[in-house]
Amino acid sequence: MFIVFEGIDGSGKSTQAKLLYEYLRSEGYTCYLTSEPTDSIIGATIRNVFNHRIQADQHTIAALFAADRLDHLQNEVNGILKKLNEGNVVICDRYYFSSYAYHGVHVDMNWVIQMNSVASQLLKADLTFHIQMPPEASLERIRSGRSSTELYETLENLKSVAEKYEEAYQKAGKGENIHFINGTMNIQNIQEQIRNIVKEKLTQK
Ligand code: TYD
Repeated sequence: MFIVFEGIDGSGKSTQAKLLYEYLRSEGYTCYLTSEPTDSIIGATIRNVFNHRIQADQHTIAALFAADRLDHLQNEVNGILKKLNEGNVVICDRYYFSSYAYHGVHVDMNWVIQMNSVASQLLKADLTFHIQMPPEASLERIRSGRSSTELYETLENLKSVAEKYEEAYQKAGKGENIHFINGTMNIQNIQEQIRNIVKEKLTQK
């Protein structure tokens, strides 16, 4: 089973992904928690763009994420497909919807979808949780928790990304199983909702 968490920066998705991972492990499931961008050499290049150590145009950035994702799926050491084959429940913090939303702000979303078509054909999530948070509240969290704001973390951009997420989910249509979760509830309530959906899905598998 492959579970994806999506949301704008500061939405709390990483916290929820981690809590779900710990919960499933405590229930005896073999789990693998992972995230994008990865810590591969491609992921490192992406982080260097975010840190302004290297400069790249928006198409190149989107392409780097697509490459990072293909490697994340297929690499033979700890790729997602391998982990799934070994029987893990794989939980991934961000997947191709992040690309559609974040890069769709800057370049044609259809091009981004095209760039990710091999990944989306290789593997779709059994469950995608989109943690919904108002951009203002997300930014507040980001600002209080960190000293520096990254490339994407301005209110205007968070709002645009939130809109692009919506557009992306509308475009995606069937074949996707997306659950929208209200991220303004307290952490335990959110986790409870997520667990219930996951438990139901696991019993169907
Ligand atoms: P993330 O690791 O979730 O943020 P952090 O660890 O700093 O909380 O993601 C880093 C940034 O990468 C985030 O702003 C979203 C962006 N991103 C893209 O632009 N495209 C993508 O395909 C993905 C997966 C992430």
